Amino acid sequence: MAIPDTIVEEIKSRSEITDVISAYVSLNRRGANMVGLCPFHGEKTPSFTVFVGTQSYYCFGCGAAGDVITFVRKRENLGYEEAVRLLASRCGVTVPEEDKGGVRRTKVYEINREAAKFFRSTLMKTEQAKAYLIKRGLGGKTVARFGLGYSGTGFELYRHLTSLGYKDEEMAAASLIRIRNGKVSPFFRERIMFPIIDVSGSVIGFGGRITGNGEPKYLNTPDTVAFSKGRNLFALNYAKDNCKDGLILCEGYMDVIAMHAAGFRNAVATLGTALTADQARLMKRYADKVIISYDGDRAGKAATARATSILTENGLDVRILNITGAKDPDEYIKSYGADAFARLLKGSETKFEYMMSKAKEKYDFSTDEGKIKAAKELSEQTAKVSSAVERELYTVKVAAELGVSKESFDAEVKKARRRAEKESGSKIKQEMQNKSLGIGDRINPEHSQNPKAVAAEEALLGIMMLHPERAVQIRNGRFDLGEGDFVTEFSRRLFVSIMKLQGEGKTDIGMLGGEYSDAEMSRIYEIQVRRNGLDSASEEVFDDNIKALRKAKATKATDIDEIIRSKQAENSK
Ligand code: UTP
Ligand code: MN
Repeated sequence: MAIPDTIVEEIKSRSEITDVISAYVSLNRRGANMVGLCPFHGEKTPSFTVFVGTQSYYCFGCGAAGDVITFVRKRENLGYEEAVRLLASRCGVTVPEEDKGGVRRTKVYEINREAAKFFRSTLMKTEQAKAYLIKRGLGGKTVARFGLGYSGTGFELYRHLTSLGYKDEEMAAASLIRIRNGKVSPFFRERIMFPIIDVSGSVIGFGGRITGNGEPKYLNTPDTVAFSKGRNLFALNYAKDNCKDGLILCEGYMDVIAMHAAGFRNAVATLGTALTADQARLMKRYADKVIISYDGDRAGKAATARATSILTENGLDVRILNITGAKDPDEYIKSYGADAFARLLKGSETKFEYMMSKAKEKYDFSTDEGKIKAAKELSEQTAKVSSAVERELYTVKVAAELGVSKESFDAEVKKARRRAEKESGSKIKQEMQNKSLGIGDRINPEHSQNPKAVAAEEALLGIMMLHPERAVQIRNGRFDLGEGDFVTEFSRRLFVSIMKLQGEGKTDIGMLGGEYSDAEMSRIYEIQVRRNGLDSASEEVFDDNIKALRKAKATKATDIDEIIRSKQAENSK
């Protein structure tokens, strides 16, 4: 880690978590802690809790958890170091410039930049690749602006980077090569290369398109220290300076490039995955409005619906572009020209208009039957709108379109809302039950096979995090507990880490950040936070959980039905 632990500790100790979070969330005192509306998911009653004693937070609604650094990272969409540096400047601690160990991420940027240069020069030398771009209508200016290139076989790049002094491990860290059984293989072969550049101008990764037929059509850099697909957007580096009137969100690299070439320089695209909340927040930093311009096919429409809710939840005003007569924006501009696309943009629909025009396409409004069916569907959609004012506006408009009274449509909407509430109530119940059974636990995949053991393991680990003296006592033999007692790999690993950390006299769980992924760190905080307020200080409770763990290990249940039955019996008590 580039920033020394001691400095991170100092920054954390000077950054009172409630002060930092208060800048983003309005917090109210509840007992020893503070609560507020969770900034990581949409909610109307506060379930986001800041624990003053442990300087951590946990959302009982969505499970977001962490310390002051995690909070800033997630909220500001920053890397670990960037977040620490931001907090440092806030509390006036000077952070030394990056040392040798910390050049990793910047090293990857550097290698990527060299690779992009190499891809560009390879393109110039490869007739067939140039011909492909011409066929796709990309002129020299556009190719230069987006820094497009060609990978060649991939081995030339490897030799080139080697000649510049880069090591295999460094190229592998950038995912430009893979090393398997000591053998090097290039990641991108015979592909048109699209460099992905972040808002600070670093080349963070690449997309590569095959020029002929073959799978996959696009290959993207997997997540590396410098790149995370779900946290970045293609062309935002350009679009961020041209988006006073909003950003245009597309599906593909080629759509964005065609749009920029046609003068729509506020277009961005996701990077081969569905839109994430992180990406929505990233857009919100630069714009208040997003015009969704996905493909016109079924998949594109489904993605439009999902993106609409993610963007709305993150406070963005959404408009939807309805593409007809072409598969995607790229083809639309090619077939009908930039002016036609500009008209399309002007007429982009609000959420309501989109919903209405979809219903009109689907149902015949001139017959009673058509109207009844449309009323059912529209009332369900209106019911999903969270703002009461917006719901009322829709209700008036839909009623007029259908030629029914406002009251009768309103009654349908209310019914649909009650139904949805009931469903989501039982869904939440189901989710909670699944959670306690460990079903679908991706952090600890052994959880569902060992729910009892994991409950005891997590109790022990949570207590150890809250009461560092336990580690000393374990070492002194006051408690008969060792790593061999743990059933699941994740818990065992965490036990070893906590013992090691506390053996070094450190009590701050955040210091484990280097060894665990973000998602794992959230779980670790969750494990700690869940013990807050329980009778964790008692040595007896610790002993009881050791016994419970032993028992669960001895009677390791293998029949999942049996576990569910016993859990249900427990719940119905
Ligand atoms: P599309 O399949 O719609 O690509 O995927 P496209 O825009 O029509 O591409 P062209 O015009 O044939 O070149 C849209 C986006 O989904 C991701 C890429 O980001 C692509 O731009 N994608 C698609 C992948 O990551 N992998 C794939 O195999 C296909
Ligand atoms: Mn396309």
